[in-house]
Amino acid sequence: MSRALPRTLDDVPGWFQPVDQELFGVLIEATGSEPGDLLEMGCYLGKSAIVMGRHVGRGERLTVCDLFGDETHGNYSRPGTLAFYRKTLTRDAFEANYRAFHDEPPHIVHGRTTDLADGIGAGSCRFVHIDASHQYEDVSGDIDITRRALRPHGIVAFDDYRTAHVPGVGAAVWEAVFTKGLRPVCLSSSKLYATWGDPEPFQAAVRTWAKGRADRTVAKDTIAGGPVLRVSAAKVPVQGGGARRMVRERLPPVLLRTVRKVLP
Ligand SMILES: C[S@@+](CC[C@H](N)C(=O)[O-])C[C@H]1O[C@@H](n2cnc3c(N)ncnc32)[C@H](O)[C@@H]1O
Repeated sequence: MSRALPRTLDDVPGWFQPVDQELFGVLIEATGSEPGDLLEMGCYLGKSAIVMGRHVGRGERLTVCDLFGDETHGNYSRPGTLAFYRKTLTRDAFEANYRAFHDEPPHIVHGRTTDLADGIGAGSCRFVHIDASHQYEDVSGDIDITRRALRPHGIVAFDDYRTAHVPGVGAAVWEAVFTKGLRPVCLSSSKLYATWGDPEPFQAAVRTWAKGRADRTVAKDTIAGGPVLRVSAAKVPVQGGGARRMVRERLPPVLLRTVRKVLP
């Protein structure tokens, strides 16, 4: 089945929120000017890979790894996952989406993330996005691959670190913080960003980015004595008749009819 090519990132299906799209850019750029590769475990239809692709410099490589709906026995750790992804996900669809934004294709590892263990050089990456299997054992293994692949001043981003239906991700992430030397940098509602290096320069970059932005808030928290930034999207009132417009846009029609009667 052929589908229309995406014209903007919003046209690409996925769960990648605007605040994280921006944080990817801020944190990848904050890894410094020394070349380093980018790696994504779990690319789905390309939404986050396309954003990562914007930051691939000369001599650098973006590698993405995904099963692309492969049903080879036992590839997907959760039985329902294969059924869900096979509805929409093919390698061709990923490649077409990526090509709509970038001339240079990424290096694709079509398989399980465990296949990455040998092909990625130690200390070769400056940014890794872990967003493949959300089972504890798999994420824990992905963290070990990342720890070896990432250079000291590098960043790892974890998806769904606090999502209720995939508690294994949080278990693996916090295990890495408390037993594998991982240091949180900042977190959004969907993703946690961390480093095995010094979090401070990354946190400074996040603060600088948020400065003067009415639609982004940054608050400092502390975990086990280390600072961590909480980043969120702030609601900005719409200019000109803001309250009325906000009510119009957010209320279901049945309530809207009632509210209209009492609004000036
Ligand atoms: C949540 S989606 C990734 C979303 C994508 N990063 C984005 O933001 O658009 C998870 C992806 O991981 C892949 N996946 C699941 N388990 C995997 C595994 N063990 N190894 C490799 N890929 C896996 C799925 O096929 C799916 O495409």
